[in-house]
Amino acid sequence: MQAAMQETTRPATRTTTQRYASTIEASKRVRWEIDRDVIRGRRFDFERKFLPDGLSKVRQLPFLSPREVRFMSHVQGRTYANMFALVERYIGAKMLDISKDYWLGDQVALEALVRLTDEELKHQEMFRRLERMAAAGMPEGYVFKPQPDDVASAVLSKCTWAVLGLTLDIEIFSQAHYRSSIEPDGELSDLWKDVYLYHWKEESQHAIVDELEWRREHERLDAAGRERGVDDLIALVGDVDGIVQMQAAADAEYFLQKSGRIFSADEDAAVRDVMLKAYRWQYIGSGVQEPRFAEVIASLVTPAQMERIGAALKPILDHASR
Ligand SMILES: [Fe+2]
Ligand SMILES: [Fe+2]
Repeated sequence: MQAAMQETTRPATRTTTQRYASTIEASKRVRWEIDRDVIRGRRFDFERKFLPDGLSKVRQLPFLSPREVRFMSHVQGRTYANMFALVERYIGAKMLDISKDYWLGDQVALEALVRLTDEELKHQEMFRRLERMAAAGMPEGYVFKPQPDDVASAVLSKCTWAVLGLTLDIEIFSQAHYRSSIEPDGELSDLWKDVYLYHWKEESQHAIVDELEWRREHERLDAAGRERGVDDLIALVGDVDGIVQMQAAADAEYFLQKSGRIFSADEDAAVRDVMLKAYRWQYIGSGVQEPRFAEVIASLVTPAQMERIGAALKPILDHASR
């Protein structure tokens, strides 16, 4: 009763609840199943690409043959699926954690967070299936280095403000990649493309929830708490870069070993450099440069904090944008 009265007397709360309600409505409307809607009994077509050139930066390696270009897109595409499965482990855990604020309160917000978590569990299962399907058509020796539970523990040790900032970044770039690079590319495996079409449909709601929760956490904190949030966000970007460096090195090694020919020293170095550059672009640069993310973070931090974040990102972005 009291909550109902508050809702009628506090328009801001009503607006937030309505935004949560709209994510629930959209989540129900686009809801899909892994086998029935996405995989539909299909396998990957290894004669076609997985990750589009717009994300893989493969055009910076003009000495690769068409077959090697395809193989590069399979390697990076396999890691792309594994990276999503990796981050979705911590995202689901974090959403469940913050949902406790609504257990006895706003049941609409609670449902939005529970649905998001349920979808991320389904996505992880889908990406594990894709990993097995990719493995079936690729040479042995591929290794995905980071462990989801270890990474999730490290991320969740940081303050909520920072974790939600990283999450919004990820959920915005996953949509941006689909719209700008995956959807328009006609050379991709149909199944690989469909995976990201269906993923995009559900991720659209996630970014709305992330933003609402990030702003709510921001309101809750004092200046010192927000300063700590910025410190932790900078640390998380460094952690993501560490993961990206580790996996880029592993994937470059696998690509060079399994391509079936000897590369010159210059070509070898170029493959390693482009792999890291591409991953830095995919997992860091493309998200922070999305106008929607830039707008939200600019509305939350002070100019001095923005400068600190910019300085931390600069060497990574300079490399990624080359
Ligand atoms: Fe997801
Ligand atoms: Fe998501």
